Amino acid sequence: PRKIIIDTDPGQDDAVAILLALASPELEVLAITAVAGNVPLDLTTLNARKVCELAGRADLPVHPGCAGPLARPLVTAEHVHGKTGLDGADLPEPDMPLQDTHAVDAIIAHVRAEAPGTVTLCALGPLTNIAMALKKAPDIAERLAHIVLMGGAYFEVGNITPAAEFNIYVDPEAAQVVFGAGVPLTVLPLDVTHKALITPDRHHAFAALNSSVGQAVAGWLGFYERFDREKYGSDGGPLHDPCVIAWLLAPDLFTGREINVEIETSSALTRGMTVADWWGVTDRTPNALFIGDLDASGFFDLLTSRLESLV
Ligand code: BDR
Ligand code: CA
Repeated sequence: PRKIIIDTDPGQDDAVAILLALASPELEVLAITAVAGNVPLDLTTLNARKVCELAGRADLPVHPGCAGPLARPLVTAEHVHGKTGLDGADLPEPDMPLQDTHAVDAIIAHVRAEAPGTVTLCALGPLTNIAMALKKAPDIAERLAHIVLMGGAYFEVGNITPAAEFNIYVDPEAAQVVFGAGVPLTVLPLDVTHKALITPDRHHAFAALNSSVGQAVAGWLGFYERFDREKYGSDGGPLHDPCVIAWLLAPDLFTGREINVEIETSSALTRGMTVADWWGVTDRTPNALFIGDLDASGFFDLLTSRLESLV
């Protein structure tokens, strides 16, 4: 299996992404590293452990990461995810421990311990932990196989400001480090996640799984998609973060382009904008596979069938 570390700020869609990874034999989750984002760090570390226990994986190490961005105060998204970050399904308090090792040190240690080119980082929140790891241990850049992240937007611009997507907006300096690190990078922006819509049929399919995982997923997404459905007037809310894991499992469901993407860090108006050279109008070197489209039915079929294997 492919070795991955999931860096995350759960978040209902993060939780579904974690479950998809844990349900997939092609992937070996080495660790989960929590970061502040949708809600503060104390809640993302708690939520990550709740999700592991739901999946029957109390053995997984969950590490606490950075409590705020590299250079700015934290911005959170309770307006989308609720006060707990995981509103919509009540899960028991976890028994499993939170690791003592900081997420940044855990990422560095795993990447150094495994053979070069074998560890993939999956980033589902602000990029603070990953940027810190790259700054503290630059040698990991060439040891990493890949970074796959949910973040940014180009045609389907901003969900936190008119110009920016939440994960990049929260810590644009961290995003700049990650996009400039020279690690093979795949980006799942809003352009694609806003095509992964939780329609009523797809929502019912989770509830129909008749398992505690199915009930939790249906509860979370019922809460979370309300916000986007009202906001965007679409057939359902977008399911962002599971696209990262699905890309690893079934890249043929997605299409995109190798392009240059730069991050705006200085303008107050466009902070965190992903300036994506989709049309190749500059001579800047491509630094990311920027995904623009997906087979939404194929994606939901994959997700639902994988979740069926969890109890
Ligand atoms: C991203 O922001 C968070 O609210 C979601 O979990 C996702 O990672 C979407 O912009
Ligand atoms: Ca997230």
